[in-house]
Amino acid sequence: MPSLRLLSRLAIAVVLVAWSLPWLQGRKAALTLLVKNKPENLPEINKFSSSSSKLVNKVRNCEDGIIIEEDAFAILSCDPGRDLWNTVMGTFHQKRDVIPNGKLWIYRYEEADDSEKALAPIEFADYPGDYSFHPLGVEYDRDTSTLFVCNHHIDGSRVDVFTLDLSKNAAVAKHTRTIIHPLIRTPNSLALLSGTEFYVTNDHYIRRRDWALGALAETYLGIPGGTVAYVNIASEPIEVRTVARAPFANGVAILNASTVAVASTSAAEVRLYTRLEDNSLVQTSSIPLTYMPDNLSTNSDGSLLIAGHPHPPTFDKLIKYRRSCIAEDGSVPQECWKATSPTWVSKWTAERGLEDLYVSTTEYGSGCTAAKDAKRGVGIVTGLYENGILVWRE
Ligand SMILES: *[C@@H]1O[C@H](CO)[C@@H](O)[C@H](O)[C@H]1NC(C)=O
Ligand SMILES: *[C@@H]1O[C@H](CO)[C@@H](O)[C@H](O)[C@H]1NC(C)=O
Repeated sequence: MPSLRLLSRLAIAVVLVAWSLPWLQGRKAALTLLVKNKPENLPEINKFSSSSSKLVNKVRNCEDGIIIEEDAFAILSCDPGRDLWNTVMGTFHQKRDVIPNGKLWIYRYEEADDSEKALAPIEFADYPGDYSFHPLGVEYDRDTSTLFVCNHHIDGSRVDVFTLDLSKNAAVAKHTRTIIHPLIRTPNSLALLSGTEFYVTNDHYIRRRDWALGALAETYLGIPGGTVAYVNIASEPIEVRTVARAPFANGVAILNASTVAVASTSAAEVRLYTRLEDNSLVQTSSIPLTYMPDNLSTNSDGSLLIAGHPHPPTFDKLIKYRRSCIAEDGSVPQECWKATSPTWVSKWTAERGLEDLYVSTTEYGSGCTAAKDAKRGVGIVTGLYENGILVWRE
């Protein structure tokens, strides 16, 4: 009975299309950005009362910046070695011994720019084995002086834990433990629940290092291979559980005791999750964006800051160009340090929704994290491939 067979095939086709419709719509929204957000089409927006690039030629390629409002300083996570080693974007320089290590910096934004107190590197002590430091997300628990760093160590990505001593002239981070775990394969960003518990995102399932094309397909098809893991290092052995999955899970931030926000870069949205008693997460809503969000931060005034990349092809072009600048000895000349891909920063609150704060194609590029000191009305934007950071006032 061919007609029945035809009917059942039709039924299967209808079910398949209906099933993939939300996915197709999501893809369409994300992929139209590739056309809509060409740099020449982007608006220039600047809602800050003032903003300027600072620490130029002193720090560059800063992925993360966290603000410790109580003490009026920021910790910047910067890695000039990213030009030669980027496990997320797939840069793996052959000569590993020429790849410079990254650094963490203490930046006291209330000090005068030229003051010696304004910027100082954190020194590291007791790092076991080969020292290799390519920091992405960092978090700091002020109560216990514990510093957590997602480190894309050349021998494998991990979360390193340090005790930070700020009492001396130079800040010293003493290594206390390294967390390597099968459920923390591609650690990107951290959000602390306490001095011993945190959420960490894994951006991809397929590592660029293992299978470049697969990782790209995962990004562009919006496959939910990224995860959020809950980690408790106080238990023995440590507890690690996957509590959520999302396409290209990137920044993570605790909005309040019951809500966690996760940036899904390739889905061009921020997802909001309800945190259950056992720390697992259930998605409740999402905030659609007109750009690919990178990192998130929450502020003491209750707002969520989102920073990201409006046009991934321009971003890819920047990375390719940067690679072409690498000299034989691994160095990158200063004229290549400027990022030429646009930045988008917005603010979200439950009451007012989304507000764009800053969109620029020329002033400050490749912006990936925005954070602010709500008490003093000062904020920073860091740029993954940019020279210096952007400092703004509300
Ligand atoms: C993003 O920002 C948050 C808070 O500002 C920080 O804890 C996190 O580690 C950052 N992640 C990355 C990848 O920069
Ligand atoms: C936490 O934030 C969410 C999202 O803004 C909101 O719906 C919820 O009411 C907040 N919960 C608390 C306890 O403030």
